[in-house]
Amino acid sequence: MSSGDGSSYSSSKISKKPRYSRFTQQELPACKPILTPGLVITILISLAIIFIPIGLSSLSASQNVVEVVDRYDDVCVPLKPSNSVEQNDERIGFIQDVKTNKTCIRTFIVPKKMKHPIFVYYQLDNFYQNHRRYVKSRSDHQLWSPKDERNTKLCEPEAVNSDNKPIVPCGLIAWSLFNDTYSFSINNTPLTINKKGIAWTSDRTKKFGPNVYPKNFQTGGLIGGAKLNESIPLSEQEDLIVWMRTAALPSFRKLYGKIETDLEANEKITVVIQNNYNTYSFNGRKKLVISTATWIGGKNDFLGKMYITVGATSLFLAVIFLLLYVIKPRPLGDPTYLSWNRNPTFQY
Ligand SMILES: *[C@@H]1O[C@H](CO)[C@@H](O)[C@H](O)[C@H]1NC(C)=O
Repeated sequence: MSSGDGSSYSSSKISKKPRYSRFTQQELPACKPILTPGLVITILISLAIIFIPIGLSSLSASQNVVEVVDRYDDVCVPLKPSNSVEQNDERIGFIQDVKTNKTCIRTFIVPKKMKHPIFVYYQLDNFYQNHRRYVKSRSDHQLWSPKDERNTKLCEPEAVNSDNKPIVPCGLIAWSLFNDTYSFSINNTPLTINKKGIAWTSDRTKKFGPNVYPKNFQTGGLIGGAKLNESIPLSEQEDLIVWMRTAALPSFRKLYGKIETDLEANEKITVVIQNNYNTYSFNGRKKLVISTATWIGGKNDFLGKMYITVGATSLFLAVIFLLLYVIKPRPLGDPTYLSWNRNPTFQY
């Protein structure tokens, strides 16, 4: 054994004993509540009293939302009976051909009176805007400042055009901008859609520059989606701003515009859709959604149901405990219940 191991520690003059403090000795004042039956029952009942009304009011708010969802990607392409693989090829051919007429007319009846503002959304299903390479394919510097036009290194493969000029806005997200359009009318009277103010104010004022104009955009080989008007700065291209706030889940809705008038029940709405966007190549679905909103937002029963479930469970447990407490009461702190008092053969 080599000299010094172990012995050098014991010969050390420095004491390892911690200095006394109430913290190191764990003598700080502490709250040690005793969960008496009365306390537990009170807590459970107060949970029920808080949760059930919140649940009921959010459920009723959600039920008051009027929502119309219309899937149109399947009906807005010419359908010829054939097997599904061929049919899909045919649809892709239809959507990629610039010469085909993509206009599609859909009608629906307003089920209940809808108060303005009425929100118009497009919904895409099976579209992974959260894919890693897609999410990263943008340049926030370039979006904000005209000086950073060349800052496109994250934007591959949509960074520069064939003449090596930077694409503004660069990247896959901007390139794949949604390009279906909708126009609404009631009895041949057009219904205006307000497309101002659909993006977040913070995005408009802090992320998308008022002096940045689209350049060389969508001029490459494969067209990904909508084109942008080169005379409008990015801060006013609200469809782009909405699209570039990427969705976290593969089914998502994005705001298309707002209808600023009330719609009466049983009114017949006609929508002329330009079915441009290619979701057929990846089995995506497209839906048009119009919806009113309340204080909880759009239609969503889940939150209310969850609150009611938690409240009802607490109430149920409170009742059970109360019954047990009344039918079979047990004195608190009775030492005869201790194991060593109950079972005299078990002793240390
Ligand atoms: C719309 O986007 C698709 C790709 O999804 C593209 O092929 C088509 O050319 C675009 N059409 C218009 C009118 O921008």
